Amino acid sequence: MSGAFGDADAVADARARAESLLARMTLREKIGQMTQAEKNSVTPDEVREHGLGSVISGGGGNPEPNTPAAWRDMVLGFRRAASESRLGIPLIYGVDAVHGHNNVVGATIFPHNVGLGAVGDADLVRRIGRVTAVEVAATGVRWNFAPAVSVPVDVRWGRTYEGYGQDPELVGRLAAAYVEGLRGDRWNAPDAVLPSVKHYLADGAATIGTSTRWDRASVKSVADDPTLANAGPAAEFLQVLDRGAWTIDQGVVGFDEGTLREAFLPPYRAAIDAGALNVMVSYGSWGGLRMHAHRTLITDVLKEELGFEGFVVSDWAAIDQIHDDPAVCVERSIDAGIDMVMVPFDWRRFMDLLEAAVDRGDVPLARIDDAVRRVLTVKFHLGLFDEAGEAEREPPLSVVGRQEHRRIAHEAARRSAVLLQNRGSVLPLSPSLPSLLVAGVGADDVGLQCGGWTISWMGGAGPITPGSTLLQGLRRLRPDADVAYDPDGRGASRAPVGIVVLAEEPYAEGMGDRHSLALEQEELTLVERIRARVDTLVLVLYAGRPRVLGDAVRLADAIVCAWLPGSEGAAVAEPIVGASAFEARLRLRWPAADGDLPLHPFCPAGGGPAALFEIGAGLSTTRWAGPESAA
Ligand code: GLC
Repeated sequence: MSGAFGDADAVADARARAESLLARMTLREKIGQMTQAEKNSVTPDEVREHGLGSVISGGGGNPEPNTPAAWRDMVLGFRRAASESRLGIPLIYGVDAVHGHNNVVGATIFPHNVGLGAVGDADLVRRIGRVTAVEVAATGVRWNFAPAVSVPVDVRWGRTYEGYGQDPELVGRLAAAYVEGLRGDRWNAPDAVLPSVKHYLADGAATIGTSTRWDRASVKSVADDPTLANAGPAAEFLQVLDRGAWTIDQGVVGFDEGTLREAFLPPYRAAIDAGALNVMVSYGSWGGLRMHAHRTLITDVLKEELGFEGFVVSDWAAIDQIHDDPAVCVERSIDAGIDMVMVPFDWRRFMDLLEAAVDRGDVPLARIDDAVRRVLTVKFHLGLFDEAGEAEREPPLSVVGRQEHRRIAHEAARRSAVLLQNRGSVLPLSPSLPSLLVAGVGADDVGLQCGGWTISWMGGAGPITPGSTLLQGLRRLRPDADVAYDPDGRGASRAPVGIVVLAEEPYAEGMGDRHSLALEQEELTLVERIRARVDTLVLVLYAGRPRVLGDAVRLADAIVCAWLPGSEGAAVAEPIVGASAFEARLRLRWPAADGDLPLHPFCPAGGGPAALFEIGAGLSTTRWAGPESAA
């Protein structure tokens, strides 16, 4: 019974308390616990009246002002209202803190998972999970929709950076460490945060061109899609559609059951064995069925075969994609084994439809009771009921973005940079180098180095949150050198070494799907401009995935992929100047050309094109002992 929940007594106690409470609940109250609304669609009074089980902030669902204190006030307002409902069942608030408490200005922003995969250090990921939990809990939030255990098959997928890589064993090991970090010493500690292992199953394995998330044929305006309208200006939306947005994410998984079990299921087993108490379902489809209606995978495999004792949550409005009739969507998703439904907007309709389905006998009351029993058991296990004055025991707001947390983020950013090429061993740069030319807006832009899921859903360029940049790091580490900054490279000055930073524009989810990963012409032009002005050129990439580099491979002496390093971008300067060593390794196959994609390790042995850089690639360097040791 205890399985990964922890000690059997605690689980038995939580289960018994859940059973006793369940017996006192009306059907409507049970359905309330199965309902999760987005904070802009519900008021605390409605939470109290309808006994909702959870409220969330979607990506960028921030209070105004966006401060830790305002976050805490908002979340505690919902929690307090729930405690005043007839049975006072505590509400659990959820956010996507996928690389730190990333919606909150001033929070510590860690490298996205693709960079943590490159480091491959479970202890580092565990420490990041712990710090993330502390900052999240300080704002009253006790549920984090992370870790993603995605295994990205086609790196043109906009969520590639949310995964640790294409090695299922590594993904499982790091996800388990993150779960342990979110837990800390015990699940019922005031700074323990519920993980949501996502997205079940094989979210990163969809085939390009199979996503139906955006109906290109008939829908012309994003205005009538309340979720995507939240992603940014409509004009930009139509542009990225032309570049491939929403062609992979939420698409169809074409692998057979054997590969599904071998490549995508193991990380769930590892995370569940580490104590994961919640799983979020994928938007995708497999075997002709939407995952959200897949009873075999959710109930038979996850709950019964893997023995998952927590509860399963849907993704954002995902059940609406099951069928044209909302009543059928509700019936099929609950029957498949979903226990709580993320209904960002019309949560009343969901509750009414589910109640009607139970009244008709289309959804057995036993299924409702199983779902609510699971939700309540987790809430008891998290200690949410024992919160008399608990909010006062949660971490103080001063922990958000504190220096000791930023030092861990700095370590992670420093260690995640992969040295792909080092012609003539130009890196680390000589400590006696007199001058340096830095180009590319990404060299001095916190928003670009953080990527998506930062302050807003899509993220964005500019000083969106406190942090440091590569340019600042270079100047801090080499105060004696002349470090010139020429963002667009249009200057004329020469320098012995030039560092060019090419940064992907931030994106999230399917908005980041692309037909091509090739460098833009303006990016190549910048590299060519700087090449003509320096003796040695170092190319630094800020990207959520491999880029097709083309001529840049020839033009650059050294190539560093720093992924999306987060708020502490100055750390990326360290291995470049020799204040630390390059150690990271590739965990994704790196294509030489768009035509070689998808490029993954799950194709038949020996099949498909070679990668430009293979999984495991990455050059090592040594740190300078000090200036006197310079060659
Ligand atoms: C999104 C994502 C999921 C996230 C959820 C809540 O659509 O697919 O990863 O946790 O909605 O923001």
